[in-house]
Amino acid sequence: MKKDLCILLVVMLLLIFLPEDIQSCDSITVKSPIILGSHLTATCTVSKTLCRGLEEEEFQFQWKLDNEFIPSTQYVQPFKNSTIVTFSKFSKTSAMLSCYITGVNKQLQLIDRKYIKAGYPPSPPSNLTCLLDLTSYFLKCAWQFGRDPLIDTNVTLLSIKLNNSCEIPDENKVDVNIIENKTSGLIQRDHFNPYKKLALWVTAVNALGSAASPVLCLVPAYEVKLDPPITNKATASVQSCVRIQWERGKKGSFIRSQEYQLRYRREEEKKWTEPLDIVGTLQETELCGLLSARMYHLQLRSIRATKTGEWSEWGPETLIMTLESAPIGKLETWWTQKESKEGLPRKILLMWKELRREDANALFVWYIVKISSGRDVIVCNTTALNCSFPAPKGVIRATIWAYNMAGHSQGTEIVFLQKAGEAVSSIRVSSKNSNSLYVTWVPKLSAIGYIIEWCKTSSNPDCEINWKKEPEGSSTSVLNDNVEPYQRYTVRLYPLYKEYVGSPVSADVYSIQRAPDKAPKLTLIRAAKTEVELSWKPVPMESLHGFLTGYTIFWTDPTGNEQYMDLKDSSGGYVIRNLEPLTVYKVVLRISSSGGSTTGTVMTIHTTLFDAMEVSVLIGILSLACVMIFVVVFILYIMKHERVKNRFWPSIPDPANSSMGKWDSVEQEKPRLAFNTKDVNQIITSDITILDGLAVKKPTTLELSKNSPFLKQDYSQKCNGQSQFTMENINTLKSYVNVADTVQYAKVISGGYREQSPPSSLYVRSDSTQPLLGDASPSPKNYENMWFHCHSQEDSVFFMEEQSQTDFPLLQALKIQYEGEAFS
Ligand SMILES: *[C@@H]1O[C@H](CO)[C@@H](O)[C@H](O)[C@H]1NC(C)=O
Ligand SMILES: *[C@@H]1O[C@H](CO)[C@@H](O)[C@H](O)[C@H]1NC(C)=O
Ligand SMILES: *[C@@H]1O[C@H](CO)[C@@H](O)[C@H](O)[C@H]1NC(C)=O
Ligand SMILES: *[C@@H]1O[C@H](CO)[C@@H](O)[C@H](O)[C@H]1NC(C)=O
Ligand SMILES: *[C@@H]1O[C@H](CO)[C@@H](O)[C@H](O)[C@H]1NC(C)=O
Ligand SMILES: *[C@@H]1O[C@H](CO)[C@@H](O)[C@H](O)[C@H]1NC(C)=O
Ligand SMILES: *[C@@H]1O[C@H](CO)[C@@H](O)[C@H](O)[C@H]1NC(C)=O
Repeated sequence: MKKDLCILLVVMLLLIFLPEDIQSCDSITVKSPIILGSHLTATCTVSKTLCRGLEEEEFQFQWKLDNEFIPSTQYVQPFKNSTIVTFSKFSKTSAMLSCYITGVNKQLQLIDRKYIKAGYPPSPPSNLTCLLDLTSYFLKCAWQFGRDPLIDTNVTLLSIKLNNSCEIPDENKVDVNIIENKTSGLIQRDHFNPYKKLALWVTAVNALGSAASPVLCLVPAYEVKLDPPITNKATASVQSCVRIQWERGKKGSFIRSQEYQLRYRREEEKKWTEPLDIVGTLQETELCGLLSARMYHLQLRSIRATKTGEWSEWGPETLIMTLESAPIGKLETWWTQKESKEGLPRKILLMWKELRREDANALFVWYIVKISSGRDVIVCNTTALNCSFPAPKGVIRATIWAYNMAGHSQGTEIVFLQKAGEAVSSIRVSSKNSNSLYVTWVPKLSAIGYIIEWCKTSSNPDCEINWKKEPEGSSTSVLNDNVEPYQRYTVRLYPLYKEYVGSPVSADVYSIQRAPDKAPKLTLIRAAKTEVELSWKPVPMESLHGFLTGYTIFWTDPTGNEQYMDLKDSSGGYVIRNLEPLTVYKVVLRISSSGGSTTGTVMTIHTTLFDAMEVSVLIGILSLACVMIFVVVFILYIMKHERVKNRFWPSIPDPANSSMGKWDSVEQEKPRLAFNTKDVNQIITSDITILDGLAVKKPTTLELSKNSPFLKQDYSQKCNGQSQFTMENINTLKSYVNVADTVQYAKVISGGYREQSPPSSLYVRSDSTQPLLGDASPSPKNYENMWFHCHSQEDSVFFMEEQSQTDFPLLQALKIQYEGEAFS
């Protein structure tokens, strides 16, 4: 068993020290640590006794620093069994130096290796300070080193208890204190006496050297850092002063003699003032020279009156508002005059700039404007920055004061003189960015300043005026207030002279431009055969957003052929000519400004077939034709008058115009008249000799028809009423008797016209001796007057038979005459 174990151990050892690593040689001799950057030499010697197993007498050496072979120029081989390598400047803080030999089978064999460190000797520790911790009663010390030694350095804090003098007697015992880390240490309570002197210093030792700090001599109890004071009360005392009271901080409050420092800042500032020493050890002070009506932040800190130890931290902030005081300074003013109607006093708008905060001396400021016309009149008491008032004639100046709770400023006088002085020769306004404008002008030598006025150009004349004052000699200005993009501004520049104001020079500008909001709506004024007239309302200034460059009107016919017209002027209308008649056109209006173009909606327009001229000519012709037709109708009417008249007003024969004498001529025409009995239906009944005494004027027209039952009926009904009247008349008529020498067969009596009785004729029996015709009671024939049937046959017997017509020439003639009338 034991033998086995031994074999195992040997094997393990063999494994550990495997071929090329022969550590036991300890062949390299080199110095470490060394000073960084210094000269270094290292020797590697192979001793057969140390490095067992090396049979050769002569070796091939090689050096390696970390993982890199060192060039052979850097080392020599003074003996067969050793080599020396030289570094003129060793610049690594730490490195592994290895020595190799080339073995039997040309293999590298490590002989030895050494770790080399480089660094510096310690620099003397400095800034040794100690503070007595008032809770643990340790004296805590801290110091600093200059250059880092880079190599292991031992630091020691040493102290010696002293009595009243800082002189260190030779035989005194040195206490070695606790080192926390390389830059701090603690001195325990038993190594010092709080109220006696203590000497202490720090030493630093390393392989390259040693150093010690200067000796610090202190009384531990004085080396304290107090708690900051606590502010009890802070009040704004007289104007621009503040009174503060405080108490000592908790830690170290037993230390009666403390000194204090104060620092402050205004609310809007970030930086604190330099600490102010508070004289004396009273726990209150007054701080003066502050601005009025401002919020201030204050802080305090304290230290032992011996000024040993450290200042406490700054205490909590105290806020305090200083008191107001009367405003100071002059107001910057400007004014404009508004046009007023006849008879009314002119209106003046007075404007001023807000007092600077440091001049206002209060949070709340108001302004009073007075004009003097005989006596002083307050026209405005306002917190706004403008005042509008009517200025009666003779009032040419106003005075403005700024007020606050503490008082008022000096008055600023404004004289309202005509702004008619010399103007600047030119002004140029350009855009700086979308919210500001840049103005340049040629300065006037005599001008003592300039006022720049700008406001939105709009249709409304009462724009909000912005203004700015520029000092004498200036020639540029940047306008930032109330400048909006895409809005047009009118900028006016007034030079100010000692006694008067110059007249303005103005320019219009946009900070940036864009296309107008929308194109105006097209309105069709007139559409004709080959032209259409369109109009549009101008776009209001507010929605233009750029300088108007013009309009373009496009029109497209149904085939898609587009034409357009650029209209440079801003006129609100255009007539498109040379269009096709009776065609639909699409019309679009585009409005362009320097910032772009906007196209409106498409309007569809129909051209007409005729021109207005043609239409009127056509209408003329048509109306002429109408008139002519009317005239013709009228003439026809006149010509056919009688017939028409008879249609509606039955004609009554005029006895005055009747004469039997005319019958002859009628009779002569008889042969011409040949008609058959069938035509009788259409024949209008006869006229007729009319008896005098009957007030009848119109001839009776009757159209008798067998087929007209209405007529028959009518007659039969009326018969009875009629009979009496006629009988009466007959009696009277009986006196009209044909004399023997007159050829008179019958007389026809007409009547009833006035009474609207059915037209009828009365035939009176003649005294003629001529035999009467035929049958005494024939049934009425179609042309017969029904009247006869109502009366006794003996009174009126008259039969009209075809045969008898020929036998009655006169009656025949009577009939013919009517017929002729009817057919004429
Ligand atoms: C190395 O060789 C030299 C002579 O060549 C000899 O004197 C010396 O003893 C040798 N050193 C060792 C350690 O063997
Ligand atoms: C010692 O302290 C002073 C001031 O506190 C400082 O300026 C100086 O750099 C410090 N010295 C070292 C070595 O840090
Ligand atoms: C300080 O005083 C004590 C007692 O009075 C004395 O023993 C000590 O030697 C004194 N030390 C020095 C440095 O004088
Ligand atoms: C050393 O210790 C002190 C106190 O413990 C500490 O404030 C300081 O930061 C430490 N310094 C370093 C380098 O660690
Ligand atoms: C540092 O101190 C330790 C322990 O006290 C000691 O072993 C070491 O040698 C010292 N180092 C130096 C460089 O003095
Ligand atoms: C002006 O107005 C303020 C605030 O409203 C007021 O306190 C003050 O009395 C007014 N002054 C005059 C002179 O009316
Ligand atoms: C006057 O001031 C008021 C309040 O600041 C303001 O609303 C008004 O627009 C100003 N009037 C003019 C004309 O500037």
